[in-house]
Amino acid sequence: MTANNERLSKDKQLDQYRSLDKGKKMTTNQGLKISEDEHSLKAGSRGPTLMEDFHFREKMTHFDHERIPERVVHARGFAAHGEFELYESMKAYTKAAFLQKPGSKTPVFTRFSTVAGSRGSAETVRDVRGFAVKFYTEEGNYDLVGNNMPVFFIQDAIKFPDLIHAVKPEPHNEMPQAASAHDTFWDFVANNQESAHMIMWHLSDRAIPRSFRMMEGFGVHTFRFVNAEGKAHFVKFHWKPKLGVHSLVWDEAQKISGKDPDFHRRDLWEAIENGDFVEFELGVQLIDEKDEFMFDFDILDPTKIWPEEQVPVKIIGKMTLNRNVDNVFAETEQVAFHPGHVVPGIDFTNDPLLQGRLFSYTDTQLIRLGGPNFHELPINRPVCPFHNNQRDGYGRQTINVGQVSYHKNSLADNTPSTSSEEEGGYVHYEEKVEGRKIQARSDSFKDHFSQAKLFWNSMSKTEKKHIVDAFSFEVGKVKNKEIRQQVVDMFANVDVGLATAVAEAVGAEFPTDVEESQVTETSPALSQLTTAKLPNTR
Ligand code: HEM
Repeated sequence: MTANNERLSKDKQLDQYRSLDKGKKMTTNQGLKISEDEHSLKAGSRGPTLMEDFHFREKMTHFDHERIPERVVHARGFAAHGEFELYESMKAYTKAAFLQKPGSKTPVFTRFSTVAGSRGSAETVRDVRGFAVKFYTEEGNYDLVGNNMPVFFIQDAIKFPDLIHAVKPEPHNEMPQAASAHDTFWDFVANNQESAHMIMWHLSDRAIPRSFRMMEGFGVHTFRFVNAEGKAHFVKFHWKPKLGVHSLVWDEAQKISGKDPDFHRRDLWEAIENGDFVEFELGVQLIDEKDEFMFDFDILDPTKIWPEEQVPVKIIGKMTLNRNVDNVFAETEQVAFHPGHVVPGIDFTNDPLLQGRLFSYTDTQLIRLGGPNFHELPINRPVCPFHNNQRDGYGRQTINVGQVSYHKNSLADNTPSTSSEEEGGYVHYEEKVEGRKIQARSDSFKDHFSQAKLFWNSMSKTEKKHIVDAFSFEVGKVKNKEIRQQVVDMFANVDVGLATAVAEAVGAEFPTDVEESQVTETSPALSQLTTAKLPNTR
């Protein structure tokens, strides 16, 4: 199949489901032509509506069931279609078919999102942005479900429900929509100090992107590339926007939230409508398996980056988003991403956050999309055929033919068979695993501040000021005095000047009990940086 045919194949597939109603006669769902759509059937001109008005019943019933649950996180999102073109063969590292031939093109569907807000929330809030890409490859769907920041708040998936409970509006009054401006969020941070590095990103300008077109994307986790010879490399994925990385300033972000809550989707939609297509280059960082322990951090720790000076990013291809959706519900809302959707040549690692994610996505989609057949929805269908012995369930569309629906059997010649590795069958990487069952990770997982400090030190003076202002604003909204103090003390581990400036702004004590080594020459001057002296009230 040539590259362009692949692109057409997803479009053609979607074409079969497009409903063009213009010029058509209105019918019921049973195909019956409708003569009256403004008045229900009544007993006499002033009487009650009659149950026998099947059109009224059908119309109303369908409307009553239009809403589905929003995503438990990343509810507010916007998506577009496009293609991924490979620049350079990755054959030496992975056997993934879509990464073999320079110039080959793979259709993609990409959804950007905020994390905390509900489906109708404003888009320019301070938050992490989701960056999820579905590659419709000839070997099946590959999903790269990333964020616009390279690290995460927690190291182990078991804490994800706690994190999100702390981030979302507080349960007793469902306030505030703003993820990081309330007591439970900062209480979580102060009591789960592995979040320090992510918090630095979260309070930086990265959390208020100018546009979805102007932010980076990161796979965050360490994945594994496996080549045809069975040799593996650790890999991290990066998306680099061709327009560069640009952010709003906080004052703009707040004003835009009020004036145009749809600012980011409008920007993306209009760019594509105007033919100003949206481009991101895909980069990979690669580490040979034998070098796994060469670093002073654990390369499987999702709160750590691989510094680019140590492991350079190699650009391997480009994604172009060039077509808006026809219908937001059918496509953007019904799309189901999953970090466990992989193709031969791409595998997982023992990153404990990734391992838990592998469970969570299908589990939530079973309820969000109403049963086990959501892979049959047009947007989720792979462009290659799929066959197995799964049957039935709500909304089943496939009419499986034949008597037998189990493997193995002697009765039928119509059931699907498995594929060998040579035939393209997915074979899990044979990683050697040893040790005892425990719940802890390596000691370097306990180093929560080195990379947070690295991030802080890499900031310009203006960027540092923005971070101090963000801390001051967000922590300034925390009502509980002890939490404000805990946060100040925690971030003294990153930089005393930062913590002192925040303490000043939020009415906390200056950090005490600070190790000598934390006091840097530039630190004291930072307390002059903050302009935000905010009252500790909402
Ligand atoms: C969405 C769980 C960490 C990126 C979701 C959803 C769940 C979830 C349940 C909703 C899915 C749906 O309804 O279709 C988790 C868990 C995590 C975790 C349990 C950690 C243990 C992460 C991380 C990233 C990430 C580290 C980024 C690397 C996303 C994105 C979406 C999403 C981009 C939205 C996908 C879309 O646009 O439909 N996550 N997540 N998540 N998650 Fe995670």
